[in-house]
Amino acid sequence: MKYIIGNWKMNKDIDDSINFLNYLKSIIDTKVNCSILIAPPIIHLPVLSNLFSGIDFVSQNIAFDDFGAYTGEVSAKMVKKYVHYSLVGHSERRQYFHENNQILYQKILMCLKYKITPILCVGESKSHRDSDNYFSVIEEQLKETLMLLNDVDLSKLMIAYEPVWAIGTGKTASLNQISEVHNYIRQILVQRLDNSKGNKIPILYGGSCNASNTSSILVRNNVDGLLVGGASLDINHFKEMIKIAYGLSS
Ligand code: PGA
Repeated sequence: MKYIIGNWKMNKDIDDSINFLNYLKSIIDTKVNCSILIAPPIIHLPVLSNLFSGIDFVSQNIAFDDFGAYTGEVSAKMVKKYVHYSLVGHSERRQYFHENNQILYQKILMCLKYKITPILCVGESKSHRDSDNYFSVIEEQLKETLMLLNDVDLSKLMIAYEPVWAIGTGKTASLNQISEVHNYIRQILVQRLDNSKGNKIPILYGGSCNASNTSSILVRNNVDGLLVGGASLDINHFKEMIKIAYGLSS
């Protein structure tokens, strides 16, 4: 199974979102072994999930607690009615909202408690890449979050490798760089779980994906899908990516 997830970030008002999804709805083919998911701004989730029951939605974020005095936050308990998935630890959350691995671990627990699949985002900064330090950064991001889970919960996760330097920059990681890290993550999962469970956890790539690189990235070993930012905002472009992914999955 492949996954293409459109992460709209803080873009699109409700009218734009409805127009986009009306079009997307006509393209989605549930018989193909490729899931198309959309992560709209959280505020749109109730309306969109009501109008588009055939589309699977993703929360861009959730709080680290169930409820309480956390002004501006939205909990897993609140969004679970509208989504089956949530991003956890997107690099923009780590950078602008100072979310560290300890907080992200709490968020993963919240997702699991409310039967939402956490999509844990990991990835190194440019300076870590340049200093050849990226394996240890990723290892720490995994060790301090998902490696603390029991095996059953760990196998309910998804992982997105998103090198920070590739996000929104147009500098997609090379195919070798992608494979190197995806294989490394897979090896950690397989070591921790048994082969069959460790191999089943989807590992997505994100960072300047577009219609020109969809095919070459998706066919790589241990790449189970794409997390798409900028290119998921334009329906014509996103449609091209979906067509390519469907072609590879049928
Ligand atoms: P991008 O963003 O595709 O615009 O690089 C990816 C992401 O942030 O998930």
